[in-house]
Parts: sequence; structure tokens; C-alpha cells
Amino acid sequence: MSVKDQIEAIASEARDQLAGVTDAGALEEWRIAVLGRKSPLQSVLRSLGELPADMRREAGRIANVLKQELDGALDVKREELGRQKIAETETSGRIDVSLPARPIGAGRLHPITQTQRDVVHAFVAQGFSVIEGPEVELDYYNFEALRIPKDHPARELMDTFYIDREDDSDTKLLLRTHTSPNQIRFMESHDPPIRVICPGRTYRNEATDPSHEWMITQTEVLAVDRGLTLAHLKGTLFEFAKRLFGRERKIRFRCDFFRFVEPGVDMAIDCFLCGGSGCRTCKQEGWIEILGAGMVHPEILSKMGYDPDIYTGFAAGLGVERIAMLRYGVDDIRHFYENDIRFLRQF
Ligand code: PHE
Repeated sequence: MSVKDQIEAIASEARDQLAGVTDAGALEEWRIAVLGRKSPLQSVLRSLGELPADMRREAGRIANVLKQELDGALDVKREELGRQKIAETETSGRIDVSLPARPIGAGRLHPITQTQRDVVHAFVAQGFSVIEGPEVELDYYNFEALRIPKDHPARELMDTFYIDREDDSDTKLLLRTHTSPNQIRFMESHDPPIRVICPGRTYRNEATDPSHEWMITQTEVLAVDRGLTLAHLKGTLFEFAKRLFGRERKIRFRCDFFRFVEPGVDMAIDCFLCGGSGCRTCKQEGWIEILGAGMVHPEILSKMGYDPDIYTGFAAGLGVERIAMLRYGVDDIRHFYENDIRFLRQF
């Protein structure tokens, strides 16, 4: 086969192949196969040197014409594919700018935040102010100043997460196990009359189950003034219970023990589901415990520089998750922090 025929054969094959190319990837493959360094056309061009001078000139001319033709065809095809692509997006991926925008899903407050706000309001409405304190707390405020000394068994009920420090144990840091340290923090820097509440997160080293989480939200209540008695404590907490669980609520107080109060009580409300006859929510008791409280221990009042013969106070601490569970009928405390949108969007 003459060189001229060889070139013609290569050319007609290349033209046929190009006609079948339908996308950019295939076009690039074609370019490499037909015009690339290892293509038959290139090897023909390389072998031209072996031909006699006049034939070489003629064959070279034909080869160059062909190369230009194929280069041109490549450009044409490239443009054609580009146009095709634009046409396709115009029909298939068309954006209709006249369509109304998709609504942006508005978020909502977490059920615990909602309940926390209602709790706060129930006390603010009775003249209490809101304070806050650190979640990383000193051992001193969390235990020591609340009359829970080192090695006291009361600490066992409140194991927590300690933060290692080289220092001596009096400045030991931990995640607060309750909001009660803020009683001390506030009394240290204020004189009576005091009416404050302190909402916030607290932590305990718990094996979690349907009624235990390692992080819970509490609200502390503290009032100190001349002549406060258990009657003031009862009245204030009764009003709180009625605001959250309905005006018709009854309350029950029983003795309880907390190192920083004397006497200490636990307060229960009559079961708002069964009205006291006994059901699953109240565990057949008719009563549901909702908080711990008591009169501020006179020893603490003295330490704070108040004369316990003149000033008395009451304090209470309540768990917000527990209240939210009762209000909304949630049977597992762990739901609150699993961030499952199917759970959260119900509130
Ligand atoms: N801090 C106590 C607890 O977390 C509750 C409490 C607060 C009890 C104030 C009495 C007075 O268990």
C-alpha cells in the first residue's frame, strides 16, 4: 500500500469514528488515538524520512492536509457537544424562577428550654430575680460550703466529673452536681432581703436509664429575709406547682434530708393524670415528688455573715427534665438529648 493510500485509510477510519462520538470523554479518547503521539498517523509521519525526496514531499503534504482536517473536525465536534450540553440543561435542568421559594423550616425551642422558661416565670412572677453561676465549679461551693465535707457519705449520691489539678483539694474543680452552690455564691456577695432563682445545667456520674441522665437541668430557689418560715416556703412552691400543673393541684410535704437545710422536705403534687387514685405515672402512689427544699441551715447563714436569730431563709431545687417529662408524658429522660428530630418536633 502506498503511503498516500495508508494516509487515506487512516483518515477515513478516523472520520467514521468521530461521527460516533457523543460526549466529551469519548472525544478526548478519539483525539489521543487519532492525533496523539502513538497514533498511526504519527508513525506514518515518522516513517516519511525513509522515502525518496520527491515522494517524501508529496506524502508530507497530504499528511499535513489531513492533520489539519482532523484538527478542524475535532474543534467542530467539541463545539457541537458544548452546544448540545447547553441545550440539554435548558430543557432538563431548567430553573423556573417564578416558582415560590421553598419555605425555610423555622426552628423551635427545645422542650427543656420551654419548660425552663415556664419554671423561671412562675418564680419571677412572685418577685424572684434570675442569677446564673459556673458549670465548672469549685469543690468548695459544690460541697464544702454546703456542709458536705470530704469523706461525707452525702457525696456518694452526687458523684461527678472531676477536673484534675495539681493544686490542693480545696481548689479542686468539678462539674457542679446541683445548682445549690449558687446559694453560697450569691449570699457571699449580697445582704438580705434575697429572692433569687438560678437555672442551669448540672452533671452527675450516672449509669443512664429511663429516669437518669448524666446531665440535667435544675433550678435553684433561694429566699433570705427577716422572719421567713416554712409557711413562706410552702406558699411559694405551692404557687409554682399550680402555675405549672394546674390551679386544682394539691401538694404534700414530707421530711427529707439535705445537709444544707434544716428542716429538709420533699414536695409532691397529687397525680394530675389519675387525680390521686393511682396510675403508671405516679407509680400507683397518687403523688409525684417534684422537688427538694428546706430552710437554709443556720450554720450557713452565720458563715455568710447573717445573724440567724434575725434572718431565716428557704431554698429549693427542682429538676426541669422531670417536670417536662410529667407535663408532656415523656417516658424516657434520654429522649431529650438524643437530638432525634422526630421527637423534638412534637413540642
Ligand atoms: N440540691 C439538691 C439536689 O440536687 C436539691 C435541694 C436544693 C434541696 C435546695 C434543698 C434545697 O438534690
